Amino acid sequence: MNHAQAKDRIAKLKELINDYRYHYHVLNESLMSDAAADSLKHELAQLEEAYPDLITQDSPTQRVAGAVLPGFKEVAHRTRMLSLNDVFSKEEVEAWFKRIIKAEPDFKPDFFADIKMDGLACALVYVDGLLQSGVTRGDGFVGEDVTANIRTIEAIPLSLRRQAKYPTFLSGRTEVRGEIVMYKADFARLNEERTQSGLPLFANPRNTAAGTIRQLDSALVRARRLHFRAYDLLREDSLDVPTNEFAYQVLAELGFSVNHQAKRLSSVKQIMDFAAEWEHKRQKLEFNTDGLVVKLNDRSLFERLGIAGKAPKGAIAYKYAAEQATTTVKDIFISIGRTGVATPVAVLAPVVIAGSTVQMATLHNESEIKRKDIRINDSVIVHKAGDIIPEIIEPLIKLRTGKEIEFQMPSHCPICKTALVKQKAADAAWRCPNRSCASRAWKQIQHFASKEAMDIEGLGEKNTIALLDAGLIKDTADLYSLKKEQIMGLERFAVVSARKLVEAINAKKDPTLPRFIYGLGIRQIGVQTAIDLATHFKNLEALMNATGDELDQVEGVGGVVSEAVIEYFAEPYNRRLLEKFKRLGVWPKPVIQTATNKLSGKSFVISGTLKAMSREEAADKIRSLGGKFQSAVAKDTNYLVLGENPGGSKLDQATKLNTPTLTEDELLHLID
Ligand code: IVH
Repeated sequence: MNHAQAKDRIAKLKELINDYRYHYHVLNESLMSDAAADSLKHELAQLEEAYPDLITQDSPTQRVAGAVLPGFKEVAHRTRMLSLNDVFSKEEVEAWFKRIIKAEPDFKPDFFADIKMDGLACALVYVDGLLQSGVTRGDGFVGEDVTANIRTIEAIPLSLRRQAKYPTFLSGRTEVRGEIVMYKADFARLNEERTQSGLPLFANPRNTAAGTIRQLDSALVRARRLHFRAYDLLREDSLDVPTNEFAYQVLAELGFSVNHQAKRLSSVKQIMDFAAEWEHKRQKLEFNTDGLVVKLNDRSLFERLGIAGKAPKGAIAYKYAAEQATTTVKDIFISIGRTGVATPVAVLAPVVIAGSTVQMATLHNESEIKRKDIRINDSVIVHKAGDIIPEIIEPLIKLRTGKEIEFQMPSHCPICKTALVKQKAADAAWRCPNRSCASRAWKQIQHFASKEAMDIEGLGEKNTIALLDAGLIKDTADLYSLKKEQIMGLERFAVVSARKLVEAINAKKDPTLPRFIYGLGIRQIGVQTAIDLATHFKNLEALMNATGDELDQVEGVGGVVSEAVIEYFAEPYNRRLLEKFKRLGVWPKPVIQTATNKLSGKSFVISGTLKAMSREEAADKIRSLGGKFQSAVAKDTNYLVLGENPGGSKLDQATKLNTPTLTEDELLHLID
């Protein structure tokens, strides 16, 4: 980017960020997520760093946070209200730990961690046990006196509990700091009421809480039902509060609500485990959180370490990775899937989202691109969560320069040049109808070899391409006539790897019927439907000759599925393929009724790795006992089995749906 382009981009970014800010703070509407706005601010800051002459007084990067508003009395904090430095990874937590050790070589890991609440900080001052004032954080040195407003918050005691076992805190000055939060449910109800009354909606609970506290009408504050959770206790004599663990005990005794999840931890590993646990479970909390606060438990040590900038050296905020960011669309290309569907895919300028680099996002189909008006060279907001495929939420139209190019759906397959077709006029998807299109063959072979299908090891993307390019195979059946001498000649293979691949293919010559049906890659047939079809028809010949009526009788099979099955077996290309399989001695075993059906009606999902067997072996075993194996937790899932390092999204879903979980041992007990 040259100077002129940077100038133009900076102007546009400032305008968009200011727009976002205005809507957010003044109109209480959100034009985009906080994460997307942060991403834009980050880009602006980077550009300004590269071109410092372009920094202006009114740039959003030049804002000093928390300036005092007119209307409230200014109050100086006795002790500065600090911010925390954010960290995002285990490496950064470790680096923090090392810095502490360097300054205090005798430090024995002793931390106190709590959920980081997404609200606004407030300092409450009690004198001889009576609430005297409530002050916002402000710029950390001076805040606003919002006493009248915070007195309406039920969770804030107007006097400290007298029966407390810690009498020290009832005399003299006791300062309690904590977070004012609005519960998610109250926020939803408030917005619901506003919808009913035709009022604009609030952006999020934090802003609403902050805006409410700055209202000059305290009756309105009361109506908004805010909450307060304490996290800090300050006395003139700091020896009154030796540790943070003690502070929390005292706070609870004095009548404050504290997070009962807060706990003492004694290693970086424990910090990371605690973070992972709450990253999953945080949806269940009443308020929003985007991370943890981790402090040294020993407060005199904390004091000794001191401050760097605005943050103490003895505490950090561990933040969960944001799931949205902004980037640009470099290009749009067409990917041809195994059933021929032509899917437009956006090539993105690489951007890190939720801890991994995203370079591509699906655009689904032509009409979706039109609906969202996504163009090549657009700046866009990208979303990625868990294992889901990254998606473009929307283009940032205000950042357009005129160099954006509207995407034209090609008329022909980019790989084999066959004209693309729509099966029905109403279909959203264009397809490449050429059965032997190299892209289709490649994806189909990958599908056939995948874990849920034939489970052939060593047949990754690149090896498959090498075999196709060399003309050694054209379809899945050809795999079984491969000779190691042919493969050895290829660049990617040595004698051993060629032999191993042939062995791996031939080891799977005798597939089960459900795996083989699934492996054929018939449209609409997922793992479970393949099982349902196999259980019903018992052998492949019966399925091949099934009529629409017969197919409709299969439990779980609807019109679209039977249509797809009939269409598949009616195609001469597929019939020839199946004959080839048979000639090569590859044919699925007929299903024999299992003697025991003890898991009948029960469905299972596995998250993480099992020790005793592979996930596929467990799935086969569950199915052989009449149970269902699912890939994602749904309403009808009976058990989520947790292996080692379980993924977050399945557990989240199970927590949401109250699905019982099983350990690996419990599963083994059930299927043994
Ligand atoms: S302890 C030295 N505990 O996070 C500051 N803070 O970025 C120690 N916050 O302004 C603060 N939940 O308003 C602490 N459980 C928690 C918190 C918490 C939210 C806020 C707090 C502070 C900001 C620091």
